[in-house]
Amino acid sequence: MAQRLGCRPSQLLDASASLVPFGLPWSARWALARADWRTYPDRSSQHLRVLLAGLHQLDPAMVLPGNGAAELFTWAARDAAAGGLSLLPQPGFADYGRALRSWGGAVRPVALPLQWEDAFPQPLPELGSGDVLWITNPHNPTGQLWSRASLEPLLDRYRLVICDEAFLPLVPGGERQSLIPLVAEHSNLVVIRSLTKLYGIAGVRLGYAVAGPERLSRWSRWRDPWPINAAATALAGALLEKPQAYQRWCRRVQRWCRVEARWMATQLEALPVLTPLPTSANYLLVRAEQSLLPLRERLEQRHRVLLRDCRSFEGLGERWLRIGLQSRAGNRRILRALRAELLQ
Ligand SMILES: Cc1ncc(COP(=O)(O)O)c(C=O)c1O
Repeated sequence: MAQRLGCRPSQLLDASASLVPFGLPWSARWALARADWRTYPDRSSQHLRVLLAGLHQLDPAMVLPGNGAAELFTWAARDAAAGGLSLLPQPGFADYGRALRSWGGAVRPVALPLQWEDAFPQPLPELGSGDVLWITNPHNPTGQLWSRASLEPLLDRYRLVICDEAFLPLVPGGERQSLIPLVAEHSNLVVIRSLTKLYGIAGVRLGYAVAGPERLSRWSRWRDPWPINAAATALAGALLEKPQAYQRWCRRVQRWCRVEARWMATQLEALPVLTPLPTSANYLLVRAEQSLLPLRERLEQRHRVLLRDCRSFEGLGERWLRIGLQSRAGNRRILRALRAELLQ
């Protein structure tokens, strides 16, 4: 994008991805700088499994680190394709479709209502029959937080439930809705998490799956050798070494998410053209009665501000944009750009 706009990447404000804007702790940067590049990493990532399991008080055999959550969707999709028809709530994250297509999996998109209350958690709407259900909690791109009480009965209705909780640790009160505590009792449940958003480390690639040990050892036999590289191993080792430090980080992130989501929604409501929708997460959808493509392009060209084009989300289109929350300074910059374009 920087090349296309003729600027340096550092001049862009990228609110099209939804990453926490804080800098990494120095201990983590230091660990990254000292990562052991020379040796092949431990193929089983045993130490990392122990650290991740410690965050959730789980047996390490129930946790499998992945090269980003995206790699783990590929293996979840292999099981899903073998299990029958996958239901994909739409608009939704496109990578589940990519993963399912790579195994020839049968898919039925299910439309979610495009209006919802400003109270979270809320029940997942009825989605109909199928074999495998893919849930995103909180949902992307809508920011809805689904209640655990509405998700739990689905474990008896579907052969396999795959719940993507990539954004859940960022959501105030989100952990109370997590399905991780149900995994030990339900062999048909897979929960996928990611460190990408929480620490703003999209380039490192680190996610993890929580599921039954048998399923995870099957996935381990399918994947490439050494899927978790030395940088990801070293960084995660430093970030997760002390569970209290992880909890403190999550609390800080959740405070930021609560304050900025509320503030940004109020500011956006005061603008013409755009209607912000309620969110529990660190991104919010805005809707308009007209195409927002020209606005998005002007924001890019004149202000170097990138918002998420929603044309790739089934059921949305040109009249929708998604904004990833930034630091207060970043959010002000987005608003200045919007005001300059909408109030002229
Ligand atoms: C809902 C959701 N899950 C997972 C991911 C991917 O996570 P990772 O970077 O760990 O592959 C994304 C990335 O945008 C996402 O939006």
